[in-house]
Amino acid sequence: MYDFKPDAALDPAEVHRELLRAADALTAGEPDGIANMANVAALLWEFLPDLNWAGFYRTAPTKVGSGSELVLGPFVGRPACIRIPFGAGVCGAAAESRATQLVADVHAFPGHIACDAASRSELVVPVLRDGAVIAVIDLDSPSPARFGAIDAEGIEGLAALLSDRI
Ligand code: SME
Repeated sequence: MYDFKPDAALDPAEVHRELLRAADALTAGEPDGIANMANVAALLWEFLPDLNWAGFYRTAPTKVGSGSELVLGPFVGRPACIRIPFGAGVCGAAAESRATQLVADVHAFPGHIACDAASRSELVVPVLRDGAVIAVIDLDSPSPARFGAIDAEGIEGLAALLSDRI
């Protein structure tokens, strides 16, 4: 049995350090990327309060086979949009720019894709391998401005850890 639980007394930076440690322990030596993404989505949900969606979109071929787009991966939350073109919405912006997107108010983000009407703020961090975006980590919250610089740095650390594990 795995029992990774954050201590309620930890401050947000410590929670992210514990999350990273748990993700490292769970994914070390496991070559199956889907299993690793599934466990990390569960950890994100366990460790970070006030989320309504946590998970992955992966870079994958389009249905017609030419070019790539983001395709839904393991997550916790309500069923979500399956395919997101690079450049579309917050996830697509992170994938296209290869940069973290910290959005305090999703209603003010041009092109935001509302998968769950409850989402008010969002953090999306690209996972890079050899400079290419292989996935994004997407966190949604029902609270405005839920995410800050500590969350962005923490999830960027997680993305770096997962670069060769998903
Ligand atoms: N809101 C995201 C789409 C993904 S869902 O939130 C799970 C976006 O604008 O990219």
